[in-house]
Amino acid sequence: MELFHRRGKDTVETGPDKGAIPLGGGRITPGVVRIGDTVRRPTSSASPFVAALLSLLEERGYPGAPRYLGRDASERDIFSFVPGWVPRRLRPWSDAQIAAAAGLARALHDATRGNPLTGRHPVVCHHDLGPNNTVFQAGTPIAFIDFDQAAPGSPLEDVGYMAWLWCVSSKAQAPPVQAQAAQVRVLADAYGLTGPERSTLIDAMLERQERNVRFWQRAWERTDTVETTAEQIGDRIAWSRREQAYALRFRHVFESALR
Ligand SMILES: Nc1ncnc2c1ncn2[C@@H]1O[C@H](COP(=O)(O)OP(=O)(O)O)[C@@H](O)[C@H]1O
Ligand SMILES: [Mg+2]
Repeated sequence: MELFHRRGKDTVETGPDKGAIPLGGGRITPGVVRIGDTVRRPTSSASPFVAALLSLLEERGYPGAPRYLGRDASERDIFSFVPGWVPRRLRPWSDAQIAAAAGLARALHDATRGNPLTGRHPVVCHHDLGPNNTVFQAGTPIAFIDFDQAAPGSPLEDVGYMAWLWCVSSKAQAPPVQAQAAQVRVLADAYGLTGPERSTLIDAMLERQERNVRFWQRAWERTDTVETTAEQIGDRIAWSRREQAYALRFRHVFESALR
């Protein structure tokens, strides 16, 4: 099973990007390349917010994100390249891996508290904290990448999404639901979720599954702007719906593991 990105295969041979390494494997953004120890990404409407957020994270000493290094001559954003492995596919993770990812997410949120970038919300959320946007070193999550969807929000938006993508799966070969629920608890504990937030984590997960359906439905309407075929989008909508049906069916198991 190919879990991880193979890097360094086809480099660009001519032109200003000579020696650049295309970074495929992302789901949305065409044209992401590595040049030396930097990553170049086409700018988007999210660029100014991402630049401000990554600069804030750097200022506050948060270690789990690329540094924002400005724009290049081709008007692309420049980020530091974070060495390691980025998984391409979802799969089960160990308790230690889930706890490490949860700790990184908590520190990320905490580093944004009290800053104007949070607007009227408690924190800035990343909004896409799946394993596919996580860099692992020696098997341990050490950084998140791909901050394009970051925006002010409530921590549960990220933790609910993480509960889904790191711990829960409707696939027949996935671990039994009790084991999945125990890992949702590992995530909640490592993040430090308590009180009302802890008791609404599963609601937040269901909401993020619903939001994923809507996200891909919108993508369906503008397939020209994403590097994804209509068929792949259809598959993602169907998958999100299956996952949500599974989470709803076993909601009591997930909720009782959190008590
Ligand atoms: N700063 C970075 N450090 C290391 N690898 C990166 C970095 N940014 C992107 N990548 C690699 O490029 C791929 C696509 O980039 P990403 O920003 O996730 O775009 P997409 O919107 O397509 O998901 C990632 O899956 C990862 O392998
Ligand atoms: Mg990505």
